[in-house]
Amino acid sequence: MTRAEHTHIDKFDAVVLGAGAAGLFCAGVAASRGLRVLVLDHGKKIAEKIRISGGGRCNFTNQDLDPSAPHQYFMGENPHFCRSALSRYTPQDFIALLNRYGVPYHEKHKGQLFCDNSSNDIIDMLLSECKNAKPGSVEIRNPVQVNQVNFEYATNQNHYILNTNTGAFECNSLVVATGGLSIPQIGASDFGYTIAKQFNLPVVPPRPALVPLTFDQKSFEPFASLSGLSLPAVISYGSKKSKIQFQEDLLFTHRGLSGPGILQISSYWGPGEPVSVNLYPSPDLIALLLQTKHFSKKLLVNELSQWIPTRLAQVFTDKKTTLQKPFNQISDQALGDLARELQNWEIYPSGTEGYKKAEVTAGGVHTKALNQKTMESTQKGLYFIGEVVDITGWLGGYNFQWAWSSAYVCAQSLPVALK
Ligand code: FDA
Repeated sequence: MTRAEHTHIDKFDAVVLGAGAAGLFCAGVAASRGLRVLVLDHGKKIAEKIRISGGGRCNFTNQDLDPSAPHQYFMGENPHFCRSALSRYTPQDFIALLNRYGVPYHEKHKGQLFCDNSSNDIIDMLLSECKNAKPGSVEIRNPVQVNQVNFEYATNQNHYILNTNTGAFECNSLVVATGGLSIPQIGASDFGYTIAKQFNLPVVPPRPALVPLTFDQKSFEPFASLSGLSLPAVISYGSKKSKIQFQEDLLFTHRGLSGPGILQISSYWGPGEPVSVNLYPSPDLIALLLQTKHFSKKLLVNELSQWIPTRLAQVFTDKKTTLQKPFNQISDQALGDLARELQNWEIYPSGTEGYKKAEVTAGGVHTKALNQKTMESTQKGLYFIGEVVDITGWLGGYNFQWAWSSAYVCAQSLPVALK
């Protein structure tokens, strides 16, 4: 329906679609500038991803993030796009906000900051920001189903009309913060991409990222018994020229591989391509094996267990009868082959665990259709923030920081309606 056809219509300066990380933060900042904001979410509960993130303790940012080099931690068709937003709202800005609220947190690993108590501290803080900005200026309504978005341009203003199952709403600025497709069971939807397409904005095809890798059952059979085993590894993908490498833990699962190192590499991996795993990330395994051969009459598997987990040693030595002997009887050639296999284990994933298990969605609204300083699209008055945009961070707090930074610059640029 158009504006004229509605008998009653609630008007706001801005409507934010999605009460997640980016949407709630954007609403609070916009309200602090004097805007009247409506946040609509189709979920029965809001901010569910924040709640479950970081194992319930929300890894809300990464204090090592260098905003001037975003391509180091973000991917997408143009990872440099996020430099402006990350520089204007930095991890230190978000940390300062937490400090103002007295939210306790700690660094866990490589700059990753987690709540001491629970993710609820972050949600409560975001809701307080919405409430305190200017009482009554942010309304959050859920569950609300948005059925249709219409655009009209009249009296020098944009008018977006949202038809929902609870009535119609009008706004000058529409902010899409509906996130990606991961974890559909807690409300993920493709609505953001649908709106982009409705207004002819390009969308980079979405795909699951930060996700466990799977293998065909037959090739993975020897490793299925290792389910639950975790060990430090170096995991690489790509050719020498464009090699991506992570030194993080690897976890064997029933169906394949997971753990931080695999989740990181999954964001880059493409079907049919191999991933290389170094299961003993120390340079001198061959030398170590040849040296040990001089004095050891123990079974190879028993000696190997000093350096790699016993169950893993068992799987790699079980594969070949030439390795099931006392150490000093094994040929140098066989030891060399084993060292190469352990340090350059080439594996061909058959797929991923998909959106059910993916922490994020790569792809999304193409950054070439967005203004990096405001997040406004080439469609006037229509903004996209957070994960719905084709910007995907590494594991470690980068995705939330993108949500905060993109929300902040958007909120700062939203026009206050003409009175
Ligand atoms: P977000 O998904 O937070 O919010 C989108 C909102 O839009 C939801 O409330 C949804 O209900 C709503 N919505 C969707 N469709 C709609 C529609 N049609 N109509 C109305 N509303 C709609 N990142 C990180 O940096 N550190 C971490 O520790 C973790 N941990 C983590 C764990 C797990 C299990 C997952 C799945 C993800 C993470 N992440 C993470 C990623 C992080 O949660 C994610 O990048 C941000 O929540 C993205 O914020 P957005 O606001 O863009 O989307």
